[in-house]
Amino acid sequence: MAGARFVIAIDGPAGAGKGTMARRLADHFRLNLLDTGLTYRAVAHHMLREGLDLGDEAAAVAAARAVDLGSLDREVLSQHAVGEAASRVAVIPAVRRVLVDKQREFSRRSPGAVLDGRDIGTVVCPDADVKLYVTATAEVRARRRLAEIEARGGAADYGRILQDIERRDARDTERADSPLRPAADAHLLDTSEMDIETAFQAAKTLVDQALATRNEG
Ligand code: C5P
Repeated sequence: MAGARFVIAIDGPAGAGKGTMARRLADHFRLNLLDTGLTYRAVAHHMLREGLDLGDEAAAVAAARAVDLGSLDREVLSQHAVGEAASRVAVIPAVRRVLVDKQREFSRRSPGAVLDGRDIGTVVCPDADVKLYVTATAEVRARRRLAEIEARGGAADYGRILQDIERRDARDTERADSPLRPAADAHLLDTSEMDIETAFQAAKTLVDQALATRNEG
């Protein structure tokens, strides 16, 4: 990969397995990793903590400017309420502009990066070397989420989880600015019937092919 940065863009709805796939690809190909959802979550977390209205654009933009990619605390930011609030601040175009600039700057760092989110292949890194759109049915995603919660000793209601997922999908796909959708040149990976290992192997093959093509050129 002499000199040039190699960028893998992964998009898809909540719970499709993008995060695990991004982590495994970054480990395997020794690339930097950014879960861009955490940047929207950081803005939402700040707003909730300070008791600010989620629609307060000036406050949300100030919070976005203050986001430091080096100190995103996954533990705190992965709370359910923060994810819900994140999808509300994510509809504000001025917030997106600030966060997208930071994400692009990250993608340009050596030796390259895996970024996962909703608009990586379409907006943040339209020139990415490989674009993956990872999806699964809402029912499969809800069952996976329930299993995760139960594995941590928690309890939750499948119907409520499914409703949350469908509401978040609607907000992400129907917003005017950078809606969730596959880039024209994205590879679609439906993981509904795949386990993590199978999905990772499929993604790895696509990245290997892109690397081979690039090294030929
Ligand atoms: O992926 P995660 O669930 O952490 O994302 C939280 C919310 O942040 C999403 O529902 C979406 O509204 C927003 N988001 C976004 N663009 C991204 C990543 C996340 O709008 N690139």
